[in-house]
Amino acid sequence: MTHQIGHSIIHLQTIDSTNNYVAKLFNAGKINHGSVIMADEQTAGRGQRQKKWDAEPGKNLLCSFYLKPANLSVDNHLVLSHITSLALVDLLRKYHVNAAIKWPNDIYVNHRKIAGILIENSLSGMNISHSIIGIGFNVNQQQFEHPLATSMLNETGNKYLVRDILMELLQSMNNYWNNLENKQYDLLNKDYLEQLYLKNIPATFSDIEGQFTGTIRGVNEKGLLLVEKLGNLKAYDLQEITLIAQNDV
Ligand code: BTN
Repeated sequence: MTHQIGHSIIHLQTIDSTNNYVAKLFNAGKINHGSVIMADEQTAGRGQRQKKWDAEPGKNLLCSFYLKPANLSVDNHLVLSHITSLALVDLLRKYHVNAAIKWPNDIYVNHRKIAGILIENSLSGMNISHSIIGIGFNVNQQQFEHPLATSMLNETGNKYLVRDILMELLQSMNNYWNNLENKQYDLLNKDYLEQLYLKNIPATFSDIEGQFTGTIRGVNEKGLLLVEKLGNLKAYDLQEITLIAQNDV
């Protein structure tokens, strides 16, 4: 029987990055599937696209999961992003907070980012041998440098124990992990698309040609964002499109 995600939780006070720490444990042969590392503070927290991930010490959930899928082809690597973002949306729902997934895997509440995901996969042939999934989830922090960031405290007016949030997240994550291990990729993809932020809602974007009003229609099998622009469906990679704003309706 494989371990549950969270069978072992290592809680650190300060570390450079929980993703780096998992990688170090892996290199030392000292980690197994389902282990979770959390830290009160990161001195070199990393975000997507080489950005930093800043978080006030002790106020947020900063954690990384070490996961070993049984037989996951690299062609299906996006399910790792799907299960993690779905688990975060589920977690927020448990606290009566309505969230959506801003493509590809930012978690948004009231048009602001509450959580981000950094996935680092290792390959063995054409399969994913392991995945390090880092999650930064804003819990009790109130002020952010970024104007479009928010937290559980800002959204609900309540403070939370970061550890409680992690426990709820683990429950959701284990549920979706079962779907992944049972190869229910279509189901996961469908659930993911249902939670997509601004789907079918006109918004302002910019691409290489400049600013335009478009409508997100979905995501294709390669994971590219499908946006309707002047009646045509266009597929965009991450660096090719920026959301400027939701249009007033
Ligand atoms: C993003 O939205 O850019 C992804 C942010 C991911 C941040 C988390 S915090 C825990 C883990 N350790 C890191 O260095 N990064 C991830």
